[in-house]
Amino acid sequence: PGLDVLAKRAGLLYFGTAIDNVVLNDTRYTSIAFNRSEFGQVTPANGQKWMYIEPERNVFNYTMANEIVIPSKKAGQIRRCHNFIWHNQLPDWLTSKNYTKAELTSILENHIKHEATYFKNDCYAWDVVNEALNDDGTWRQDIWSNTFGGPEYIALAFKFARKYVSRNTRLYYNDYNIETVNNKSLAVVAMVKDFQKRGVPIDGVGLQAHFTVGRSPTYDQVSASIAQFNKLGLETALTELDVRVALPDTPAQQADQAKIYADSVKACVDARDCVGVTVWDFWDPVSWVPSTFPGNGDADLLDANFTRKPAYYAVSDIL
Ligand code: XIL
Repeated sequence: PGLDVLAKRAGLLYFGTAIDNVVLNDTRYTSIAFNRSEFGQVTPANGQKWMYIEPERNVFNYTMANEIVIPSKKAGQIRRCHNFIWHNQLPDWLTSKNYTKAELTSILENHIKHEATYFKNDCYAWDVVNEALNDDGTWRQDIWSNTFGGPEYIALAFKFARKYVSRNTRLYYNDYNIETVNNKSLAVVAMVKDFQKRGVPIDGVGLQAHFTVGRSPTYDQVSASIAQFNKLGLETALTELDVRVALPDTPAQQADQAKIYADSVKACVDARDCVGVTVWDFWDPVSWVPSTFPGNGDADLLDANFTRKPAYYAVSDIL
C-alpha cells in the first residue's frame, strides 16, 4: 500500500506532497505524484503564490495553479493551498512601489478575495500567512510589516480569508523552525492566543519541517511543539517535510535521514490533532534544496532513478 493508505490507517487525514510545475511532462513523475494511494494530498509548490496569481495589479492568472489543482482533483486528492501572503515571490508591481497602508489593505483584500473565491471548493486548508516571524520571535521586516507598522496585517489577512474561503476550509499560519519549543514557536503561540482573545479566525499551524541531517529536532522536541498548538485547540500539520544532507550523500547520512523522517512522521501520528504530513516534493531532482542551500541536497524520499530510499521505507514502516 502507498503512504497515504498507510497514513489513513494510522489515523492521519492524509500523507501528501508538494508538486512543482517543472516536471509535469515527466510521466514517471506524474504517475506517482497524482497517485492517491501514495499521496492523498497535494500542495502546489509555486502556482498559487502572488507573483503567479496576480502578476499585474488586479489581473489574475490561474494557469500554473490549475496545472496541479485540476489533475489532483481528478485523482481524488485533497489540497493544501499555498499561500495568500508571504514576503517572497511577490510581483514587481507590488514591491517596486511604496503603497500606503490603506492601499495595501485594499490590495490585500482584493487578492485574497479573487484567489479564495476562485479556489473556493478546492482547498482543505489555506496557508493564509507564510513565514512572518524571524527565528528570534520578532516580526520579520517586510513590505507588510513595514507598511502596517507591525503585524496587524496578519490578523487582517485571516479575517479576509475567513470572509472569502469556503466554510470548511482551515486557515493556517505556516512557518519554519517552529518544530521545537523556541522563541519563534512561542511567538506563534502568543499570536494565536491574541487572535483567540480578539476573535480573529485561525484553525491551524503548519510546521514546515525543513530539516538537515546532523541538526534536526528529536521526536520529543517535535511532539512538544505540536502539543503547544493542539493545547490551544488548533490543528497542526507538517507541511513541507524534507531532510537535506551535505553532498556527497553517504549511506550513513541516508540512514540518519531515514530516522529523522520517521521520527517526524511519528510525532505527527502520535499527536492529538496533527492531521497530516506533506513532503516538499518526493523526488530529489526537483527538490528546492540544492539551489537554496548550495552543497546540500538529496532531501527527498525517492532518488533520481525513482528508487525508494531508506527514508521512504522508514516512513512506511512507522505508518
Ligand atoms: C519554494 C519552491 O519549492 C521553489 O520552487 C521556489 O523557487 C521557492 O519557494 N518555504 C515555503 C515554500 O513556504 O513556498 C518554498 O517553496 C520553500 C520554503
